[in-house]
Amino acid sequence: MSINTVETNRNRQNFEGISSVWLFGYGSLIYKVDFPFLEKRPATINGWERRFWQGSHDHRGTPEAPGRVVTLIEKPGARCKGMAFRVSPHVFEHLDVREKNGYLRFTTPMTFDDGSVEDGLVYIATEDNEAFLGPAPSEDIARQIARSIGPSGPNRDYLLNLADALRALGDHDSHVFDIEKHLS
Ligand code: SIN
Repeated sequence: MSINTVETNRNRQNFEGISSVWLFGYGSLIYKVDFPFLEKRPATINGWERRFWQGSHDHRGTPEAPGRVVTLIEKPGARCKGMAFRVSPHVFEHLDVREKNGYLRFTTPMTFDDGSVEDGLVYIATEDNEAFLGPAPSEDIARQIARSIGPSGPNRDYLLNLADALRALGDHDSHVFDIEKHLS
């Protein structure tokens, strides 16, 4: 089954005296913006790639039949394009619940399209979390996504919305687009 990271995340960063924080979104946080933000800017992080390797028991699947959602995997030389949001620290009370199925907040440098760099927080489901599913052929991942559904809706909508959002950002993520191609 899954773990709940809400408590762990609450104690991970100290927001005392801080009025805003950058958040880097690379999955549903790009297209499902159900939180207030002060500013948003496309950004890239280096050394990470997006992979549909995390199980979703609470949003796009169930504990009995988990769906698949994205996490980041460390890889030297890789680049991951996403959207950065400048948010008030209280927004993390909501986001920690939304991302509770194995995701932990990490600090990362983010590069904006104009070349400037800022530190941001990013939710990553690391390989040691209980909901981690790991690699599989694109066809198999697409099949699992096609049949999965959870409280947030069909898993296929997560994949299709993400692929559309990445196209809108001008990104070519061959992993995501290959799975999309195999979706029946
Ligand atoms: C993210 O979008 O940045 C984290 C993963 C997700 O919620 O899909």
